[in-house]
Amino acid sequence: MNFPQPPAIDPQFIPRHIALVMDGNGRWAQERGLPRTAGHQRGEAVLMECVDACIALGHVEWLSAYAFSTENWRRSHSEVRFLMGFSRDVLRRHRDELHEKNVRVVWAGRRPRLWRSVVRELEEAEELTQDNTGVTLAMCINYGGRAELVDATRAMVKDANAGLIRPEDITEKSLSEFLYRPDMPDVDLFLRPSGERRTSNFLLWQSAYAEMVYQDTLFPDFTPQHMYDAVLEYAKRDRRFGGAVDKFAPESS
Ligand code: IPE
Ligand code: IPE
Ligand code: MG
Repeated sequence: MNFPQPPAIDPQFIPRHIALVMDGNGRWAQERGLPRTAGHQRGEAVLMECVDACIALGHVEWLSAYAFSTENWRRSHSEVRFLMGFSRDVLRRHRDELHEKNVRVVWAGRRPRLWRSVVRELEEAEELTQDNTGVTLAMCINYGGRAELVDATRAMVKDANAGLIRPEDITEKSLSEFLYRPDMPDVDLFLRPSGERRTSNFLLWQSAYAEMVYQDTLFPDFTPQHMYDAVLEYAKRDRRFGGAVDKFAPESS
């Protein structure tokens, strides 16, 4: 199959940061009488196609992929074990190819509890690709939006206790310096396939003004065309960020 051509969209309407909730793997597998893990396995190639779709679109700078949430530890021991080993192996299998595509891989997530081998693999991928200038792929593993804010608060309070910051100097900008990836821009397009219409604790702070696009396709069936459709939908939205234009008000002085 030739890789599908992206739609022609004015670059100013292409999202700079796409947050992608890779959801629906378990249902995809169960519908086929397969173990849930078969759905996760299918998702591996789909994620790589999503990266290719972002590269093809051009102007997408960040793709954040939700791979394992801080709440996913609630799953069965065997699924958690699978997901840990799988995350590690996916990174190992694809890091050279991502590097060749000039993709910069970064990790966003909480360290405690995460398997050491996963952290090691993430750090190796980060190191290998750190100077790349193409799309940044943020692998969100053991990530939770609330956990991120708790961790940021802890770090800030430590600095405050050490006399390095004064509470009255804390701003939105300075708080964001304590997030897992201070360089992560705000989310423009929050994309969730699988039919669920919720954030499930993904990038809460960064998505304050994100445009939400929900699709019914399960992630293992997700294609570059689904991403293009989501971007087309995004391009049609009127983003106001709280502002307003009154077309009929008399000139105010
Ligand atoms: C998303 O698919 C992958 C992870 C959460 C790791 P799910 O495993 O949540 O699949 P569904 O939503 O149960 O179908
Ligand atoms: C969100 O999906 C987490 C990931 C895709 C990694 P979940 O399947 O865990 O979320 P809920 O349980 O449907 O809210
Ligand atoms: Mg799910």
